[in-house]
Amino acid sequence: MNFVDIILDKRYGRALSDEQIRFFVKGVTDKTIPDYQISALLMAIVLNGMDAREMTTLTMEMAHSGQMNDLSYVDGVAVDKHSTGGVGDKITPLVLPLCATFDVKSVKLSGRGLGFTGGTVDKFESIKGFNVQVSQEDFPRYIKETGMVISGQTPDLAPADKILYALRDVTGTVDSIPLIASSIMSKKIAGGAEAIVLDVTCGSGAFMKDREHAEQLARAMISIGELAGRKTVAVITDMDQPLGRTCGNVLEMQEVHEVLIGRGSEDVIEVACELTAQMVKLAGKDMGLSHDELIAECRRRLTDGTALAKYYDLIISQGGTILESGAPLYVEKPFEEMQVSAFDSGYISRIEADVIGHASVLLGAGRLTKTDEIDPGAGICFYRKVGDRVSRGDVLCSLWRGEEHRIDDEKLFDIMEMVSDAITISEEKPKPHKAIIDVIE
Ligand code: URA
Repeated sequence: MNFVDIILDKRYGRALSDEQIRFFVKGVTDKTIPDYQISALLMAIVLNGMDAREMTTLTMEMAHSGQMNDLSYVDGVAVDKHSTGGVGDKITPLVLPLCATFDVKSVKLSGRGLGFTGGTVDKFESIKGFNVQVSQEDFPRYIKETGMVISGQTPDLAPADKILYALRDVTGTVDSIPLIASSIMSKKIAGGAEAIVLDVTCGSGAFMKDREHAEQLARAMISIGELAGRKTVAVITDMDQPLGRTCGNVLEMQEVHEVLIGRGSEDVIEVACELTAQMVKLAGKDMGLSHDELIAECRRRLTDGTALAKYYDLIISQGGTILESGAPLYVEKPFEEMQVSAFDSGYISRIEADVIGHASVLLGAGRLTKTDEIDPGAGICFYRKVGDRVSRGDVLCSLWRGEEHRIDDEKLFDIMEMVSDAITISEEKPKPHKAIIDVIE
């Protein structure tokens, strides 16, 4: 097969055959197709798209390019959850223990943060001693002990996707529904779960900036999941402002603890409960409750200490420490460094999530390149959110650094200006943001 013909087929908008897609993924994995030809095909896919059959074949070939996890040791339906990424997204550390209260088993493979979205692995690593490099052989023991395990992705999970993702990152070809959908679903399918709940984020802090595109991505992933024999549901959630009150690793894990002791913010609670309810339903553990009853039960368990007990189990089983105060021991103590105040009176009408995500990375909470070290204590705390009435001079948010911070005071000042510019105050009260935009089954 001649790879140039494959590029030309896609360039002229023709659907690729299964054989052509197989040839492509094999050539990517065994490095027989040069990067410039792969990049040309990726750009043709960005411009001319793929149909459901092509996306499914691409997904399955990428999934099979490495190890396929066997979760047959899980007693019951193993359900996976995945977020398309966001700013302040601390939902996984809440969903895992909440699911465990319903006896829903979760094997969660997560990534590190790159770009303005944070990574769940980095967040768990901000708990001192927490081991995120669990070997496949140990998964059954953790599942037996606590019903949950969280681990970094191994290099042999969908290696073709890793190669393609690295190229997409530097060739302007990340932003494509077929490529995002197949990238995410290949890892989910190789991960082995029978059922998948997708949190498709929508807004300035997400890949999909508006509802129409978020729905297209959700439907593409559901169609791949169904064709691959996995029960798949997508929840479209708002990411037009940061989720909850914090961005940054220790700060977000502190917020997780706040939620679990009943002091969480409403948007985080709503998203965590909706995703858990969907996972519980797919696992067949909904006890015959209606959706509203199930959400109410999730809310109760999330905030009354039931999920907290499971959260402790998860932390202790993976090597973390719980202090006598009941809070986890974190690797670093964050310090509040600078406050951002309202420059006017009125209503907060916008907090640009992408700018806040970038500011948080610049503070040290994330990485600009894969090899960057993060400052676990760095981040941003919000005291006011969209829709709140504020008076000139009120503190809106604060910037934090850890003990071993990596930026100087001058840089801190520039970031403060960037954060301040990302917050709009208007005279008119904005329409309330709904945390859950839609559920697509
Ligand atoms: N997350 C992924 O895993 N892949 C993408 O392409 C985008 C987000």
